[in-house]
Amino acid sequence: MDIDQIVGYLWSQITLIQCLGFLFLGITRHVLWLALVTLTFTWKLIHELIVDYNTSSKWPGITSNDIALVTGGSHGLGRAIVNNLLEKNVKKVIIFDIEPPGSSDARCEYVKCDLNDSNDLSTKIDRLVGELASKDQHISILVNNAGIRINGSVLEVSEDDINRSMQINFVSPVLLIQRVIKQYMAKNNGTTTTTTTGSTSTAAMSPLTIVSVASVLGWISPCRLSLYSAAKAALINANQSLMRELKAYDQIRILYATPGQLDTRMFADVEPPKQFFAPVVKRDDLAKAIVDRIERGQQGNLCRPLYTNVVPLVSALPLPLQDLIRDITGIDKCI
Ligand SMILES: *[C@@H]1O[C@H](CO)[C@@H](O)[C@H](O)[C@H]1NC(C)=O
Ligand SMILES: *[C@@H]1O[C@H](CO)[C@@H](O)[C@H](O)[C@H]1NC(C)=O
Ligand SMILES: *[C@@H]1O[C@H](CO)[C@@H](O)[C@H](O)[C@H]1NC(C)=O
Ligand SMILES: *[C@@H]1O[C@H](CO)[C@@H](O)[C@H](O)[C@H]1NC(C)=O
Ligand SMILES: *[C@@H]1O[C@H](CO)[C@@H](O)[C@H](O)[C@H]1NC(C)=O
Repeated sequence: MDIDQIVGYLWSQITLIQCLGFLFLGITRHVLWLALVTLTFTWKLIHELIVDYNTSSKWPGITSNDIALVTGGSHGLGRAIVNNLLEKNVKKVIIFDIEPPGSSDARCEYVKCDLNDSNDLSTKIDRLVGELASKDQHISILVNNAGIRINGSVLEVSEDDINRSMQINFVSPVLLIQRVIKQYMAKNNGTTTTTTTGSTSTAAMSPLTIVSVASVLGWISPCRLSLYSAAKAALINANQSLMRELKAYDQIRILYATPGQLDTRMFADVEPPKQFFAPVVKRDDLAKAIVDRIERGQQGNLCRPLYTNVVPLVSALPLPLQDLIRDITGIDKCI
């Protein structure tokens, strides 16, 4: 008898009715809320305490040698990230977007690029990398921020929507990560093959930070947002492999953000369900937090607001509890 069988047996002895009865009779909503908030705080505290894990003191921070590439940098969160990077005195910020940025800074370079179009993306990134290489420069900060949201039930979405959502939210960010790491390895005379031995000398390597803006919806998928959630889940999972594959390279930092609802136009039509527990995240606050992490060389996951820290735990709960949580938060009624 293995542990799964024992747990399965014990679980089968507790009927659903007993479980639910216990929940509703003994525990009031308020106690549940309190427990959830306490758990979230504790969880968050643990995350914050170990945020410097694996961070070497040699990390130089953001310097005037840094060249950043930000996708979707013309408006919203992307624009806020660009502004924060400029404040840190980076050498240059290149924006890949389909719309030009409203205001411009001498250190900003706009490249019209359609992330739905692989050919366009390849042409533009190859040209950029080539131009930089000819000046002995390379991209040292990549921020995959651009994304699109497509509404619709799983039964309704068209093939074109599926392709477009995956292309913009997942395929393009991964293609960019590949190109940027390749140019970095070429510049640093590293090897592009994955090393697990840690034999590469990283002492002489310059820093490289890769940031991807995913979403808490990559962990929990509401009704009629399956395409967006699925693409973000793919992005989150690619992160886990990537981080391990690049473990030997101390100077490459991988950071993923999984924010809740942002005050950007993408979710402007969505009435936030539970403001107290799930407040709308201000794009400037998130941008500041992201740039601060880049500055400090901290890897891993950036969760905002507080509640997003515990969302991955939800999918490990028994179904009735998951339903209860979805019901209380109103997540399935937003779109
Ligand atoms: C996205 O790209 C696909 C394939 O290249 C194309 O068929 C589709 O029309 C594009 N959609 C938009 C909105 O540009
Ligand atoms: C979606 O992508 C696949 C694979 O690239 C392609 O074969 C298919 O024609 C695309 N569908 C649409 C509607 O663009
Ligand atoms: C790195 O490559 C460049 C040109 O490809 C070469 O000049 C340089 O000596 C190499 N450096 C090391 C440490 O191998
Ligand atoms: C990215 O991967 C790292 C390492 O596996 C993990 O700590 C982090 O939580 C991941 N981020 C997301 C958003 O899954
Ligand atoms: C999504 O649906 C909402 C209504 O529920 C609508 O206001 C919004 O424009 C839609 N967004 C997209 C991108 O289709």
